[in-house]
Amino acid sequence: MTAKLIDGKAFAEGLRGRIAGHVARLKSEHGITPGLAVVIVGHDPGSQIYVSQKAKQTVEVGMHSEKYELPEDTPEAEVLALVEKLNADPAIHGILVQMPVPPHIDGNKIITTISPDKDVDCFTPASVGKLQIGLPGPVSCTPLGCLMLLRDNLPSLAGLNAVIIGRSNLVGKPMAQLLLRENCTVTVAHSKTRDLPGIVAEADIVIAAVGRPHMVRGEWIKPGAVVIDVGINRIPAPDKGEGKTRVVGDVEFASAAERAAAITPVPGGVGPMTIACLLANTVTTASLINGLVPPRDLTP
Ligand code: GUN
Repeated sequence: MTAKLIDGKAFAEGLRGRIAGHVARLKSEHGITPGLAVVIVGHDPGSQIYVSQKAKQTVEVGMHSEKYELPEDTPEAEVLALVEKLNADPAIHGILVQMPVPPHIDGNKIITTISPDKDVDCFTPASVGKLQIGLPGPVSCTPLGCLMLLRDNLPSLAGLNAVIIGRSNLVGKPMAQLLLRENCTVTVAHSKTRDLPGIVAEADIVIAAVGRPHMVRGEWIKPGAVVIDVGINRIPAPDKGEGKTRVVGDVEFASAAERAAAITPVPGGVGPMTIACLLANTVTTASLINGLVPPRDLTP
């Protein structure tokens, strides 16, 4: 392997340290304790682990944390009522409803009920619009994490060719906005894209966010590119024993690492950054709600 390994776990730890400093300052200088409420409906084990991690890290950086675990069959009206209550609660500056919600609940209805001022996921139309025109506000957590890692590994992003594979509302589209703001030349590739290998071969920056194990082949990578792998895919691992699995990314790691200048591993790359950026967004919304300028190092 010739690429530098981008250690997202260590970067996220440093970021949480800076967030804790900002939280302490908000408390001591302004009497504000940023508060984050996380809501989960149902019992999906993966989602429960994420939500517990979010609540735990919120407390670790000194913030106020509230966790609402609702049964799978909770009526939509009850979830909406909880969101409305949290919208009106002055102790809460961030509201996250873990997606996906059970099928009898309209996820978009939940999202559009969250106050844009407290939208730490950057899911509401108002937040998405602010991100697009560059107004202050929360920024989609995973793309913000990817941007922080890119800035840490490149002297300048301006003029670079960035290829994003995947056009989701969660990652691909907001990532494109952020990289445009950095003056990259941005291509968003997707399942209907023709000649993906040819497009990736031109990329100085590759962001893989498709959710398909090892879909991006190492031989496609331009020598010297920076590769950010957002994928978290669980695949069978018979070498570890009967019925065992392992988590891999969207990129063929070993062969890509022979060509790239720097690459994120999976796990330990982008994953830890997402929750840290959720905490960063809560500091941002707590600042904005109270008429303060958000800390520069937590926003793009
Ligand atoms: N489900 C998977 N990722 C996310 C996320 O970033 N935010 C929310 N609310 N739900 C998710």
